[in-house]
Amino acid sequence: MNITFLGHATIFIETENTKLIVDPFISGNNLAAHIDINALKVDYILITHGHQDHVLDVEAIAKNNPKAMLISNYEIVQWFGEKGINGHPLNHGGKHHFDFGSLKYVNAIHSSILPDGSYGGNPGGFVLTTPSKCVYIAGDTALTLDMKLIPETSPTLDLAILPIGDNFTMGYEDASIASDFIRCNKVMGYHYDTFPPIKLDKTAAQSHFESKGKELILLDIGSSISI
Ligand code: NI
Ligand code: MN
Repeated sequence: MNITFLGHATIFIETENTKLIVDPFISGNNLAAHIDINALKVDYILITHGHQDHVLDVEAIAKNNPKAMLISNYEIVQWFGEKGINGHPLNHGGKHHFDFGSLKYVNAIHSSILPDGSYGGNPGGFVLTTPSKCVYIAGDTALTLDMKLIPETSPTLDLAILPIGDNFTMGYEDASIASDFIRCNKVMGYHYDTFPPIKLDKTAAQSHFESKGKELILLDIGSSISI
């Protein structure tokens, strides 16, 4: 599995047979000005919650990829459905098998409203399980004890993608505790640097993880890792 960081909370995932994008917010992110959303070819668009910094480019990407399927909570899928975007709704605790593997929509402690003020359901994260890998994408969330359920109900995680920017989500100290709860010491950080309140001290964050025997991966925007 190849995972590319496209800035903020936008993740591009290539499995053996499928391309997925999570929470596309590229055209509104000055730090991601070198990413061309028109060049993105995707089969699925995953949305964790309705905030603008997670859904801004959904319509543009769906327009360029008319066969792509949106996967999110019921309310968000419904809202984009009215704009003609094809989707598959999930709700918390539910999983579904797709051609790439399965996705489970899991709890996040945050809020969720769509850009026009419509109700965005409750926010979530995803556990993505393919035949070879399992990845937790937390979405925007606080540290929560619900994270302890993830290793009880999913295969061993190969990677966790966790928000670390603080202010709107957990910061890196709480993210290191989250990594204990989910029993995964390999963490990719996201949701930092985009706006002044979530500016990250990367050296401090990485040394904190190191001091706990954990790895914190911070990718440059446009860079990838293989797991
Ligand atoms: Ni949010
Ligand atoms: Mn956010």
